[in-house]
Amino acid sequence: MSPSAPACPVFGTCGGCQYQHLSYEEELAVKERALKDALAARVALEDRVFSPIEPSPKVYHYRNRLDLKLIHRRNGDVHVGFSSAERGPLIEIEACPIAMEPISDFIPRLRAEAAAKIPKDYRMANLTVRCGEGGNVRWGGIGHNSLRLEARDYFFTDIFGRRIYYALDAFFQANLSILPQLVGFLRARPMWAKDTVFFDLYGGVGLFGLCLSDLVARVVNIEENVHAIRLAKYNAVANAVSNAEIVEGRMEDVLPGLAARALPGAHVVMVDPPRAGLSDSAIALLNGLAQAKYLVYLSCEPGSLADNLKDLLTGGWSVELVKPFDLFPRTRHLETLVILKRS
Ligand SMILES: C[S@@+](CC[C@H](N)C(=O)[O-])C[C@H]1O[C@@H](n2cnc3c(N)ncnc32)[C@H](O)[C@@H]1O
Repeated sequence: MSPSAPACPVFGTCGGCQYQHLSYEEELAVKERALKDALAARVALEDRVFSPIEPSPKVYHYRNRLDLKLIHRRNGDVHVGFSSAERGPLIEIEACPIAMEPISDFIPRLRAEAAAKIPKDYRMANLTVRCGEGGNVRWGGIGHNSLRLEARDYFFTDIFGRRIYYALDAFFQANLSILPQLVGFLRARPMWAKDTVFFDLYGGVGLFGLCLSDLVARVVNIEENVHAIRLAKYNAVANAVSNAEIVEGRMEDVLPGLAARALPGAHVVMVDPPRAGLSDSAIALLNGLAQAKYLVYLSCEPGSLADNLKDLLTGGWSVELVKPFDLFPRTRHLETLVILKRS
């Protein structure tokens, strides 16, 4: 493989990136291979279901969020950087080439602002720094102030005519640059009809449900995190979306009641779970959804995806398409979209 010069002076020690030494083409090939191997270990899929990996429009300066560690020494010195292990040494940084420029440029100021804010007896803090398309940067983590954000503190990104707001304290996809490709790919699939009910089960701040709401009769967005629910409701109003129901709760608890309601039309169900994948009860529920014609699985972890696919295939689903999206260039992480159909 032909080498490429790493953009970062701490590449190899900070633990965040694994592929800065590869050309981007080589990185994509490595990721496609790794995904196929991870899936093949658990399920037999025909080659024809694999669609080529979608590259990220931005290979550097794409992350809208960094999680940093702050160390406050007894002599008053403050250090900010990454720690690859829970109690490992801090790798101090002045910039981060995979973070969006406003965040990367902000790091020296973050050190100064955090030094001024940190209580005398705090030795360590975990800090989150975030930005949006408008270039505004916010950070939080010392104390719980970041959890009391007002609308003026929100970030946004524009996708398919929707302005989606997100905040410091709830999940949002880390790479804004590739979201139009991801949402556009879903919008173009031949699975939406005017009477479709779209269940967005790990719905977060409403990204997918709200960006697809014009193609369907109704969106049901389920999300357990109270901060994300607040943003999802804000996003529905801000985008004048009137056919979306935003429901707070664990999907395992609230889906049975919602899916049993007499809503006409085929259901399309989307799951976008955290890294650990779907719980056994979530899989049992998905396997039992009588009206669901399609299941869209967006995964950030090929291992748990492979495990879950095995159980979904046994439960009556078949894989129509697998398409990786490179949401995390220069790192080993990969997002994978799988579309399943009732077989
Ligand atoms: C990977 S994020 C995806 C969010 C959203 N789809 C997006 O793209 O912005 C997973 C989300 O699922 C939520 N979540 C985790 N477990 C859940 C559960 N059992 N039921 C409902 N939501 C859950 C988390 O709070 C988080 O917001």
